[in-house]
Amino acid sequence: QLMKVYVTRRIPQEGMKILTEAGVCKVSVWDSDEPVPRAELLKGVAGAHGLLCLLSDRIDTEVLDAAGPNLKVISTLSVGFDHLAINEIKKRGVRVGYTPDVLTDATAELTVALLLATARRLPEGIDEVKSGGWSSWKPLWLCGYGLSGSTVGVIGLGRIGLAIARRLKPFGVKRLLYSGRMPLDALLTESDFIVVSCSLTPETQGLCNKEFFSKMKNTAVFINSSRGSVVNQEDLYEALSSGQIAAAGLDVTTPEPLPTDHPLLTLKNCVILPHIGSATYSTRGIMAELSANNLLAGLSGAAMPSELAL
Ligand code: GLV
Ligand code: GLV
Repeated sequence: QLMKVYVTRRIPQEGMKILTEAGVCKVSVWDSDEPVPRAELLKGVAGAHGLLCLLSDRIDTEVLDAAGPNLKVISTLSVGFDHLAINEIKKRGVRVGYTPDVLTDATAELTVALLLATARRLPEGIDEVKSGGWSSWKPLWLCGYGLSGSTVGVIGLGRIGLAIARRLKPFGVKRLLYSGRMPLDALLTESDFIVVSCSLTPETQGLCNKEFFSKMKNTAVFINSSRGSVVNQEDLYEALSSGQIAAAGLDVTTPEPLPTDHPLLTLKNCVILPHIGSATYSTRGIMAELSANNLLAGLSGAAMPSELAL
């Protein structure tokens, strides 16, 4: 009898092909680009041996209970796993696969793009061109901050943080500061750019708050491509609107999507992207392959290409 697999979204076909051609499981998919409604998820996962999910699916006790005792493996199409109730999963002996490494380059690249776009005010410039606000070349218009000669502080020196730092160096960055290698206070006071690329844990939840921003230079630019909840968004709004810091670029927010009437969206010095760090065609295809292979390995009891140590 075939094992049952539930996939919570339409994913790149490279991944679906691996699952369907393996011939060991019956695959049901929430065949849409939009998230599966919670009630559908609870129904779809019932009796599943394997669950392939996304970072936008909260996999908690309720989902694990709905899945029942067959569940052997959860494979998430993401490097982050803060959406998974790890303790509950571990307690039930369920294995977890994820997608580190394969998205490092794409995410680092997007983070650099976001940093440059924010510091050099690209979205504002684009808006001015479209709206007719571009009246002349002006010496004092749309000036921002450059990387050359700057000091960059990286918070969270994992795979992605390192890859970001490597990419920033050739822009003429004078000093790269890393959290964990020096006191956070000194990193905050000395940096012209702060780049957050840590994982979301109880320790990093709300790390970037009023006190954090108050230590940054008034000319400093804040970039976050990790998880929205690392930032206290009310404190960030205050820091940006009061001139405590110069600008912020976010690829992640709380919640996602960010409501279109959110106060942060009224600020010209805040650039917000819709969580697209890993969004290149090839990276998403490779992520889908890896998560399919993780799932199959978990079903058969074999070693996964990328298993999360629980
Ligand atoms: C993206 O945020 C991921 O965790 O893969
Ligand atoms: C810029 O275009 C310059 O010529 O200085």
